Amino acid sequence: MFHFKPPLPFMGSKIAMLKRVKEALHSMAFTQAIRKDTIFYDVFGGSGLLSHYIKQLYPQNEVIWNDFDNFKERLDNIEKTENLRFRLHNLCKDYSTKIKLPQEIIDKIKQILEQEQYLDLTTLSSYLCFAGNYAITKEQLFNNIKYHRIPAKPLNAKGYLRGVMRVSKDFKQLLEEIPQEEKDKQQAFLILDPPYLQTQKGNYRDFYTLKDFCLLVENIFKPYLFFSSKNSDILPFIDFYKKYNPVFEDYKIDKASLKIGGEDYMICSSTQTGLFDSL
Ligand SMILES: C[S@@+](CC[C@H](N)C(=O)[O-])C[C@H]1O[C@@H](n2cnc3c(N)ncnc32)[C@H](O)[C@@H]1O
Repeated sequence: MFHFKPPLPFMGSKIAMLKRVKEALHSMAFTQAIRKDTIFYDVFGGSGLLSHYIKQLYPQNEVIWNDFDNFKERLDNIEKTENLRFRLHNLCKDYSTKIKLPQEIIDKIKQILEQEQYLDLTTLSSYLCFAGNYAITKEQLFNNIKYHRIPAKPLNAKGYLRGVMRVSKDFKQLLEEIPQEEKDKQQAFLILDPPYLQTQKGNYRDFYTLKDFCLLVENIFKPYLFFSSKNSDILPFIDFYKKYNPVFEDYKIDKASLKIGGEDYMICSSTQTGLFDSL
């Protein structure tokens, strides 16, 4: 079963790029950059949406999801979050989503939340705070409850990430641990969706710095899909940098305009038809 968005909200998930990912992978499969023994490494796995989607497209292949943020904990607690969604939806459904909730309702929401041991702050922020305002502490959440956008539809994680292998480590360690043989045989396929430089980092676990970006581009190998944005100046950078790392020669690029302005880029490594005919 395909999920076209993560079962729980996650900032930066690649919902809008899935169709393009499918097309890019299919054309790479055509040129044999994807084979039966290809292992996909979703190095900046976030919500796992790309891992899930790729596993649905290529069920025979191994897919490794790097869950640096421990999204698994949120998934493991989805029933508790669903229970809250249901109660909060019933409490708020008669109030407009456009105007501030009455103070008595805000107080009731707080009472309900106070009784809970586990709170998925990201999901609750998306329900109760201004769009894009993600609380990282309970206090922040409580101070920012103003409006509501609580979906009527139940949360559903059925089959999500089934068959996908989970790891949780810094990207540098993960890249280092990929066996040299997999790199040499171009068996390891990198899915690279790092935090974008020069854009908001939201509620990710750690800051991702220019130094991290440099370490990443230094260690990239083919084949790969690499996501970035116009704001990050990635194209002029790659044009400059390809003389230092030839994996950036002859790359292909897919540009997607974003609703909120700006442009997302998906950079695909070039492939050579017939390279793996003998395998
Ligand atoms: C743009 S998001 C990835 C979104 C993901 N593709 C999705 O569809 O949900 C970037 C992710 O990289 C993670 N990240 C940041 N620093 C990292 C590091 N040093 N090692 C591994 N992951 C890191 C962030 O926490 C975030 O989950």
